[in-house]
Amino acid sequence: MSSPAPTPGPGSIFRLIYRSRNKIPEEQRKAELGRLFSAARSNNKQQHITGALLVQGDWFAQVLEGDEVAVSALFADIEIDPRHEDVSVIESGPAGPRVFARWAMARVSWSTWTSCAWVRTR
Ligand SMILES: Cc1cc2nc3c(=O)[nH]c(=O)nc-3n(C[C@H](O)[C@H](O)[C@H](O)COP(=O)(O)O)c2cc1C
Repeated sequence: MSSPAPTPGPGSIFRLIYRSRNKIPEEQRKAELGRLFSAARSNNKQQHITGALLVQGDWFAQVLEGDEVAVSALFADIEIDPRHEDVSVIESGPAGPRVFARWAMARVSWSTWTSCAWVRTR
């Protein structure tokens, strides 16, 4: 018996998760990431996008949650950002309630990233 396609219920959102390789030179990382987070938080707030960004050595991984059109438009910009490369989508699609509802863009550690339910259960 095939299971029905998931229908987004109340409070459900679109979620996109990707990983990429950080191209910001080591000596510029602190300042550049400060600028990146502050611009991302203010922009995401306006777009009702929430999520988290993991900065782990030379890698980024990011979760974007919100309206599908808004998340896709933002991701199209992020994808061509010269500060990273090898951008690879891990998953995208309708999802349950927001995991990072309180964060326009949380900066998370590896342990937070791996302990989040959407990573554990997939
Ligand atoms: C790893 C990474 C994550 C990013 N995340 C976001 C984000 O969550 N929100 C955002 O607005 N910009 C983010 N950016 C920046 C965008 O790529 C882009 O610079 C920005 O959306 C352009 O905004 P503007 O057109 O208002 O200048 C990110 C960039 C990188 C390299």
